[in-house]
Amino acid sequence: MLLIFLGSPGSGKGTQSQLLAEDLEIVHLSTGDLLRQAVRETGRFGKQVATYLDAGQLVPDEMVVDLLVERMGDTDCSNGCLLDGFPRSITQAETFDAILAKQGLKVDLVIELKVDIGELRQRLLERSLKEHRSDDTPETIDARLAVYESTTAPLVDYYQQRSLLRTVDGVGTPDEVAQRVRGVID
Ligand code: AP5
Ligand code: MG
Repeated sequence: MLLIFLGSPGSGKGTQSQLLAEDLEIVHLSTGDLLRQAVRETGRFGKQVATYLDAGQLVPDEMVVDLLVERMGDTDCSNGCLLDGFPRSITQAETFDAILAKQGLKVDLVIELKVDIGELRQRLLERSLKEHRSDDTPETIDARLAVYESTTAPLVDYYQQRSLLRTVDGVGTPDEVAQRVRGVID
């Protein structure tokens, strides 16, 4: 099973992926987490990645696709996985679909989490006080939101045209949102 969470920065992709991955007993793969891990653990590649993350810009498609596809080849993903933050551009989605098709696989469902911009900003600013993600500064939050609108939001149409998209209201407690997510999966 291959599920995708699509949504703006702060929409709850990570929170909901974690809850759902436990429920469905499949692996949760966040490209943001994989990239932050690369920043911590790899030398030159990590430094390169950090410049994109810190600016709130997308890491080049090829780098992300390679990283993700390699991770998806691990045995714990043999029953499928839940993708959080990938794909993030039409090019990534098309490349990914082509790679999957070669393996006789396909995306099963895309869940879009919808949250208004005021709430998104508030959640990310609140998180910046507790955790210290290098991209949770007011300027970088705005850059990330803008990149979502220009480059990632077109995926809503892309997956709608393929009848794979389910949109869920992402405002409410995490448990309330999780119930709505389960509703569209059942
Ligand atoms: P990524 O790590 O994916 O970050 P993001 O998309 O900016 O999203 P966040 O992780 O900030 O938010 P989220 O939607 O996961 O929400 P969360 O559950 O954490 O990407 C980071 C960077 O990596 C990108 O900018 C880019 O540079 C690079 N990158 C990643 N993928 C890439 C790709 N495919 N291609 C190229 N580059 C890529 O919740 C947010 C906060 O709100 C938390 O504090 C949480 O506790 C809280 N919260 C969650 N749910 C609720 C709720 N229902 N009510 C109230 N608060 C809530
Ligand atoms: Mg996240």
